[in-house]
Amino acid sequence: MSGVDPVRPGPLLGTAPNPDAALSVRGLTKRFGSFTAVDGIDFDVPRGQIFGFLGPNGSGKTTTIRMLTGTSGANAGAALVLGEDVLSHPERVKKRFGYMSQKFALFEDLTVEENLRFYAGVYDLSAEEFAKQRAYVLAMADLRGRENELTANLSVGWRQRLALGTATIHQPELLFLDEPTGGVDPVARRHFWDLLYDLASRGVTLFVTTHYMDEASHCNQLAFIYRGGLIAEGRRTTFAAT
Ligand SMILES: Nc1ncnc2c1ncn2[C@@H]1O[C@H](COP(=O)(O)OP(=O)(O)O)[C@@H](O)[C@H]1O
Ligand SMILES: [Mg+2]
Repeated sequence: MSGVDPVRPGPLLGTAPNPDAALSVRGLTKRFGSFTAVDGIDFDVPRGQIFGFLGPNGSGKTTTIRMLTGTSGANAGAALVLGEDVLSHPERVKKRFGYMSQKFALFEDLTVEENLRFYAGVYDLSAEEFAKQRAYVLAMADLRGRENELTANLSVGWRQRLALGTATIHQPELLFLDEPTGGVDPVARRHFWDLLYDLASRGVTLFVTTHYMDEASHCNQLAFIYRGGLIAEGRRTTFAAT
C-alpha cells in the first residue's frame, strides 16, 4: 500500500473543534523522536455513534487512543473529548469515559467479584451504585453464579465480556475499545458486538479500533488510518445491524 495519498486537506482542516461532538480532533500529531506515529489527523464523532477506527498493525490506532484518553501528550493539534480539552485537562473528563485496552483489562489473579470491586473503587462508586452495576455486569457478561471464579480460568469470550463490564461500571458516556475482539472466535465476536449495539442504543458513543475489515460493517462511521495519516473517512446515513 505504499504510495497511498492521505485525504488531507480534508473538509475539517482549519475548522475549530466542535464542542458538541463526543470527539473532535484537529491536526492531532504524535512523534517518537524523528518518527511520526500519528500525523495531523482530523475527525468529528457525533454522540451516540459507533465509530470504527480501522488500520493495520502499527498504523497509530493505540497511540491515538492514548492521546484521547489523556494518557499521553500530543506534539501538535487539538482534541475535545465530550467537549473538554483532554490534552490540557484530562482530569475534567476521565470519569466520563471508559477504556478497554488492547492487552490488559483485567487482573487475572483476581476473581470476577474482585475485578468488579477494583474498578468500582477506581471510579468511586457508592455501595448502592456498585450493587446496581454489579448485577448489570454479571447479567450482561453471563457470569451470574461465577463471581468467585478466578478470572484466569474464564474463556477468552467471557473475559472479554467481563472486561467490557468493568470498563462500563461507572456508566460512561463514551467508551474506547482498542481491538476488543482480537483472538476471539467468531461466535463470541458476534455476541460481543450485540453488547456494543446495546450500549450504543442507550446513547453511549463507541470508539472501536480494529484491524478486522469485516468489523467495519458493524460501525456507522469509519476512518481508516495508515502510517499515521487518515486515508479515508465517512459516515453511513442509514444503518442496519447485520
Ligand atoms: N512509546 C513508543 N515509542 C516509540 N515508538 C512507538 C511508541 N508507541 C508506539 N510506537 C510506534 O508507533 C507506531 C504506531 O503504534 P500503535 O499506535 O501502537 O499502532 P496500532 O495500535 O495501530 O497497531 C508503531 O510504529 C509503533 O512501533
Ligand atoms: Mg494497537
